[in-house]
Amino acid sequence: MSIFRAGLFKDKVALVTGGATGIGRAITEELLSLDCKVVIASRKEERLKEAVETMCPNSTRLRAKVCNIRQEDQVKNLISWTLKELGKIDFLVNNSGGQFPSPVSAMSLKGWNAVIETNLTGTFLMCREVHDQWMSDHGGIIVNIIADMFRGFPMMGHTGAARAAVDNLTKTLSVEWAQDGVRINAVAPGSNIYSPTAANNYNDPTIFDRARGGIPMKRLGSPQEVSSAVCFLLSPAAAFITGETLKVDGGSSLYSYLMWQIPEHNKLPAYSWTNKTPTDEEEDPPKSKL
Ligand code: ADE
Repeated sequence: MSIFRAGLFKDKVALVTGGATGIGRAITEELLSLDCKVVIASRKEERLKEAVETMCPNSTRLRAKVCNIRQEDQVKNLISWTLKELGKIDFLVNNSGGQFPSPVSAMSLKGWNAVIETNLTGTFLMCREVHDQWMSDHGGIIVNIIADMFRGFPMMGHTGAARAAVDNLTKTLSVEWAQDGVRINAVAPGSNIYSPTAANNYNDPTIFDRARGGIPMKRLGSPQEVSSAVCFLLSPAAAFITGETLKVDGGSSLYSYLMWQIPEHNKLPAYSWTNKTPTDEEEDPPKSKL
């Protein structure tokens, strides 16, 4: 059960890019649990099919649409299709993203451009189109999912640069679109949010164990802990918040091992709004890691 009151998002319509897997899926699940209607978008049709069949098989409250957010015509079409199907768009969650680990010196221009186009240009296109087709006249709320790139992002320089740009774009749009009734904020999950999708994206199985050392809470975060931050920003509880970036990282972006030693502890246990415990699902990390 979500921490937020039942029915909070009744009669609301949300569009979540990358809503079929990982953090995007947790956001979709929590929005659905709060009675929101949701459209999920992804490049991959099979992913969307599996997500709809698992999350909401017998309801029209969850719809799916294939969209490559790098392609302007596909983004225009996603927004117009959503408006035709559901009549409005109250919330946009820009969660789609993609990158590959590499030092900058080894990046090709093609690889660099691909990551910038997905994470920065795709977010720009989604924001502009939802504004131009709907929110400029009706208002709305946008949340951009970025990353913990605040001290640079070694081995991820392309996505670090793109996410920092989205952080800045969020601030610009909060000023430009306030007069249209649009609030826009960002959520920055740490690189320490465990999901099977994230684990598959990293080739290194020890990465999460190593990450734990650098987290003051001495545990990994969960996709649900990111989704609750997103739901907060979409809710009236955040009515006076715009242009802000909320870090969801257990304090890791503030902590350096060298300045302060934090012993192992379990004094800040995880919050989960589902009934699942981490060991319920084979793919989730062992309880000791959360
Ligand atoms: N996820 C990763 N890359 C994407 C893209 N180009 N469009 C939509 N979702 C994506």
